[in-house]
Amino acid sequence: MTPPRILVARNIFPEVVERLSQHFDVESNPEDIIWTPAELAERVKDKDGVLTTGSQRVDAALLAAAPRLRIVANMAVGYNNFDVDAMTAAGVQGTNTPDVLTETTADFGFALLMATARRVTESEHYLRAGKWNRWSYDMFAGSDVHGSTLGILGMGRIGQGIARRGAHGFGMNVIYHNRSRLSPELEAECKARYVSKEELLRTADHLVLVLPYTPESHHAIGAAEIAQMKSTANLINIARGGIVDDAALAQALKDKRIAAAGLDVFEGEPKVHPALLEVPNVVLTPHIASATVPTRLAMANLAADNLIAFFDGRGALTPVNRPAPKRA
Ligand code: GLV
Repeated sequence: MTPPRILVARNIFPEVVERLSQHFDVESNPEDIIWTPAELAERVKDKDGVLTTGSQRVDAALLAAAPRLRIVANMAVGYNNFDVDAMTAAGVQGTNTPDVLTETTADFGFALLMATARRVTESEHYLRAGKWNRWSYDMFAGSDVHGSTLGILGMGRIGQGIARRGAHGFGMNVIYHNRSRLSPELEAECKARYVSKEELLRTADHLVLVLPYTPESHHAIGAAEIAQMKSTANLINIARGGIVDDAALAQALKDKRIAAAGLDVFEGEPKVHPALLEVPNVVLTPHIASATVPTRLAMANLAADNLIAFFDGRGALTPVNRPAPKRA
């Protein structure tokens, strides 16, 4: 029996590609070429499975080019690069990588929050530019983290990890808003209080966004929402670009409508809205919230495990849809 043909769409850990090669006929991309949708379509046309990294769009056009395709394993927890309905209709299984990145990503959310509140990168740029020649009482004075109000929009596993860090580590008063409310047990464990989105915007000192990107969450934070925030507040986005209206945020930062922002994700990344690069009160990182060596390896292995389990008949381990079995 010929093994299933798998495409690994971006360069990933060689040991994971090697593991896949023990089960499948693998085409990988060690040069890490960013294929255009047409180039990707050309490569998937004879494949049974694909390992994507979150930056390859899996839509009806790609699916139409891949008659044999049965599974796409995303090496990311977010899967807004998937057209899930089109995949389900085409009988293609989608999977993601939840859980293995929760704590690492929550760590980074907190790192970005603290860097933003305490103006870490802004002050480093000043020092590196040779501008530090005397002390002054208000030099890079930022906002307190301990004892302040932490607002979380989107209270999935990562949001809960951030809540725990804030409540138990920094004595923060944690409030959250989510599509559904947590169980009383989880609320108690996270020491988090459910509030309306309006109250969240009005009262958070640090507002962290951890919600999935969907048509409903597009520009969930725009000029109108920013206008409701405290002028001393900080906004942190570790979720997805497009949840924040970056142009409106850049203007608000310029006008000091809010104190500062910390952004790991951007609309249209890897492009960054030029106005964000012009304002000093924003910490900018290139979508690295899950980027520790052990966590990225765990994500790659989970994506590989999904492919292996799917083709050996156990079924996907972390499915994002339930397609009917693919026509022969
Ligand atoms: C990263 O953004 C992920 O979704 O895993």
